[in-house]
Amino acid sequence: MTQDLHRLLARRQPGYTLDAPFYTDADIFRQDLDIIFGRHWIFVGAEPDVPEEGDCMTVDIGPHAVVIARDDDRQLHAFHNVCRHRGARLLHERHSNVGNIVCPYHQWTYGLDGGLMFAAHMPKDFDTSCHGLRKVHLRSLAGLLFVCLAETPPADFDAMAEALTPYIAPHDIGHCKVAHTEDIIEPGNWKLTMENNRECYHCSAAHPELTRSIFAEGFGFAPVGAAAEAQAARFHDMVGTLHADWEQIGVPSREVDHLADRVTGFRTERLPLEDAGESETLDTRVACKRLLGDLSEKRLGALSLWTQPNSWHHFMSDHIVTFAVFPLTPETALLRTTWLVHQDAVEGVDYDKANLVAVWHATNAQDSGLVGKAGAGVRSSGYRPGPYSPDTESLVEKFCVWYIDRMKAGLAA
Ligand code: FES
Ligand SMILES: [Fe+2]
Repeated sequence: MTQDLHRLLARRQPGYTLDAPFYTDADIFRQDLDIIFGRHWIFVGAEPDVPEEGDCMTVDIGPHAVVIARDDDRQLHAFHNVCRHRGARLLHERHSNVGNIVCPYHQWTYGLDGGLMFAAHMPKDFDTSCHGLRKVHLRSLAGLLFVCLAETPPADFDAMAEALTPYIAPHDIGHCKVAHTEDIIEPGNWKLTMENNRECYHCSAAHPELTRSIFAEGFGFAPVGAAAEAQAARFHDMVGTLHADWEQIGVPSREVDHLADRVTGFRTERLPLEDAGESETLDTRVACKRLLGDLSEKRLGALSLWTQPNSWHHFMSDHIVTFAVFPLTPETALLRTTWLVHQDAVEGVDYDKANLVAVWHATNAQDSGLVGKAGAGVRSSGYRPGPYSPDTESLVEKFCVWYIDRMKAGLAA
């Protein structure tokens, strides 16, 4: 099968969707888990997922079960969720708070840094220091948490952090709390979920809630024709002016794009929002009265941020929405969406949760339906790779270029 994969990678036609086996085949799925999810920086959550000492969060990345824990010195650690005795899974809840991590099988007891503290009935010369939990690399990008399961992770995380930290910092993730999390299982290969995210070609037809706040010209779903071109020119002038204004108040906004030319690929840009221009909500106004960090300006548009292979994020003045994709089977993927607000914001006083989540709850359901349609199509015998729109699907192409390059490099390693 590796020979077939080499052949399929070699024959991928630039500008076209991938061959069907990339979306359906069990062997390629296993290679995705090994090469893409086992050797790159994977977004798993945000620091507010584990705000207190003793907080633990579990995350499954294919067969890789991971724990993120905050110790009593507030340091974060990541390790495999696998006991060093006979391999039992240690923590089962997605979130828990513990003094130590006690294996449910024979009660081997680990500290929050993963060190083995206690193991009954073991010989006198048993060396606990050799039986700590296996570490997983963990980095925080201004509060966004990434893990890498490889022994030697890609070295360019720092380059991403240097470029993106100034963009994220004004939103102060460290002083946020989780207002809501939603998991949905999308009926398609994880790459179909990612490809769907990387374009808004479908937005005008699919997303009545989302398109209330985002400008068609900013996301490539504006109508074509002379009038639309004039409107697009006005939009780009407005963006230029706003970028300068926002940067003057310490809110970097200009596009940075390394989606296809870095091992740890990423892109960001802040764009204005429609009407009131405050937030991605049904009425385009902030959903939370308490703004993030030290922000006092509501009209900051939305900072979009994408990372390869599995995340995207929207940062507004009042709330943040993060999205993580985890492969489940060749033809299903978990999409985890988390809404963050200032830690002092009070539900029912500063924000109404239903209003906060309305746009992306609806949009996720619509996107999941589209992923299912694509999944059903690529499974059928009539499917052949089709062309992307250079206007509106350039980021999908960059996702595919990145994926093909990383798979080739992984097979060669
Ligand atoms: S498997 Fe964990 S203590 Fe035995
Ligand atoms: Fe969508």
